[in-house]
Amino acid sequence: MIGKLNHVAIATPDLDKATAIYRDVLGAKVSVPVDQPAHGVTTVFVELPGSKIELLAPLGDNSPIANFLSRNPGGGVHHLCFEVDDIIAARDRLLAQGARLAGAPEPKTGAHGKPVLFLHPKDFVGTLIELEQA
Ligand code: CO
Repeated sequence: MIGKLNHVAIATPDLDKATAIYRDVLGAKVSVPVDQPAHGVTTVFVELPGSKIELLAPLGDNSPIANFLSRNPGGGVHHLCFEVDDIIAARDRLLAQGARLAGAPEPKTGAHGKPVLFLHPKDFVGTLIELEQA
């Protein structure tokens, strides 16, 4: 059911520092920072062949990554995003197997303008999973 690994998201309290590590130390191509007020984050995309890393820093008072950063003050891997062909069919199949969603059951428009859903880390080996309709 899941397809390509679309991105790995890494939360960081210091977006400039994290960007510099990927750009200057690891030699990757990075985007400019983009504020995503609807998602409570500022993002930098690190372009890799066939995939990407999404660096996330909190934006505003109620950022969805604030709790994660309070537990992981130095930052860390926040979620994996897999592509699916049909997000509603994928959701219904997962729910039928007893998997839990993290957040509302209706897909939201994600940072790339495509429908996304999040799956609860307790049901997925301790990892928050984002599904994105490709
Ligand atoms: Co993501």
